[in-house]
Amino acid sequence: MIKIKKVADLKRNYIISTSKLKIAHWSILGFSTSIMLTIIANIRAPDLIKIPLFILAGFVIYKFHRQLKYFRYHLDYYLIIRESLLYVLYTNRLYTAQKDSTGYEKIIRSATLEYELDRQKGHVLIRALSTGDEFTKKVQSLDDVLAGVLEIELDEKIIRPSFVEYHFYYKKPERLTLQSHSQKQKIDSLDIDLGYGIIYNPVKCPHILVSGGTGSGKSLLLSFLILEFLKRQSTVYIADPKNSDLGSLSHYLGSKYVATTPNNIARIVRLVVEEMQERYQYMRNNFQYGTNFADHGYKPLWLLVDELGAFQASGTDKKSKETIVEVMDGIKQIILLGRQAGIFILVSAQQMRAETLNTDLRDNLGLRIALGANSNEGYRMVFGSATPDNLKPIEVKGAGYLYMQGSGRENAQYWESPYLDTKQFNFISELQLYLEETN
Ligand SMILES: Nc1ncnc2c1ncn2[C@@H]1O[C@H](COP(=O)(O)OP(=O)(O)OP(=O)(O)O)[C@@H](O)[C@H]1O
Ligand SMILES: [Mg+2]
Repeated sequence: MIKIKKVADLKRNYIISTSKLKIAHWSILGFSTSIMLTIIANIRAPDLIKIPLFILAGFVIYKFHRQLKYFRYHLDYYLIIRESLLYVLYTNRLYTAQKDSTGYEKIIRSATLEYELDRQKGHVLIRALSTGDEFTKKVQSLDDVLAGVLEIELDEKIIRPSFVEYHFYYKKPERLTLQSHSQKQKIDSLDIDLGYGIIYNPVKCPHILVSGGTGSGKSLLLSFLILEFLKRQSTVYIADPKNSDLGSLSHYLGSKYVATTPNNIARIVRLVVEEMQERYQYMRNNFQYGTNFADHGYKPLWLLVDELGAFQASGTDKKSKETIVEVMDGIKQIILLGRQAGIFILVSAQQMRAETLNTDLRDNLGLRIALGANSNEGYRMVFGSATPDNLKPIEVKGAGYLYMQGSGRENAQYWESPYLDTKQFNFISELQLYLEETN
């Protein structure tokens, strides 16, 4: 295979281009066809033999054409990007030219755009080099120009010391739609598909934060996640201080696992912390370097705390304030120590103020989701420095922004939570498939 230099620079001379490749394709085909036909026509043989030979030649030529076309299309992907970038450089005058004595304009310097293409992900990365010359400022603001020439929306732009990265995705990510099942699913992998090309694994990226105003889809997202946790034989504890949707699950999951009052919430947090300490003790006694809970036969344990802000606000007298301090202390321990022991926490809140959860702890929550429309401030409270500069308006129910640590992305990305059609999908009957395991 020919390797194409994935760089656009007007000073270079490019031997291969899409139009040259097209000409080469048809010339090779024309040339080989005429040679083959001439040879067959000149064979001393009866027509009875020549006719099938012509048919055979036609078939071979067709196959050859397919092969060439495949080869050309593969290169075309790269060439089209390069030619588009050269066009950007030229039309935006990102070069310096000098006229020679004959009046011919010769390019003496050009801005440089490197690119990478990942066809599987549908990802185009354009890197505009900043070398300190007169183009350095200009290549930092190619957002609209590049989006225009590639005809794709800019997904992310990252300014680094020596280059600027522009990320484009031409495959539209797909929202997951929840399917109902008649039988219980048993999944061994801890990977959870969240749709939109995002695979979440709590071991790689422990703990979840979900924020969003009322009606933004927090409860539906949590319901989806509860099912995914149960499919992976996890133990699920739920704290719902507002005693709404999730609190009502105590009918199904049992009051041992679902708490709505401050005292009960304190009880389940204590239970979870104790379980964590027991697991640590067991793993210490059976120490093996580099192993985690799964190697010791433990399944994940999830503690879901809905509306953390509401819970904290509920403390009015001295006694309940003490309970809150105790719960927050437990939550802190789980966030900092849980991962190794397979103890994970999900915290949801309408607003993620620093008083609700301080930013250090927040940054230890690997997956962070902000659902629904939020102010820039609101996004900052969830994502901190990973807040994107250009935020899309949220127009779809259950949509928002998501940031997953270690995903390779610098900033939170637009995301639509799995679609739950209440006419098609009955959460409770789905939940009932998994009940005997938790009780
Ligand atoms: N993923 C989704 N798929 C389909 N519909 C959704 C989705 N997310 C939200 N909705 C719609 O939005 C409504 C509100 O969602 P939900 O009850 O989950 O919000 P919430 O954030 O929990 O609100 P509150 O803070 O009031 O509890 C749902 O009843 C549903 O109609
Ligand atoms: Mg809710």
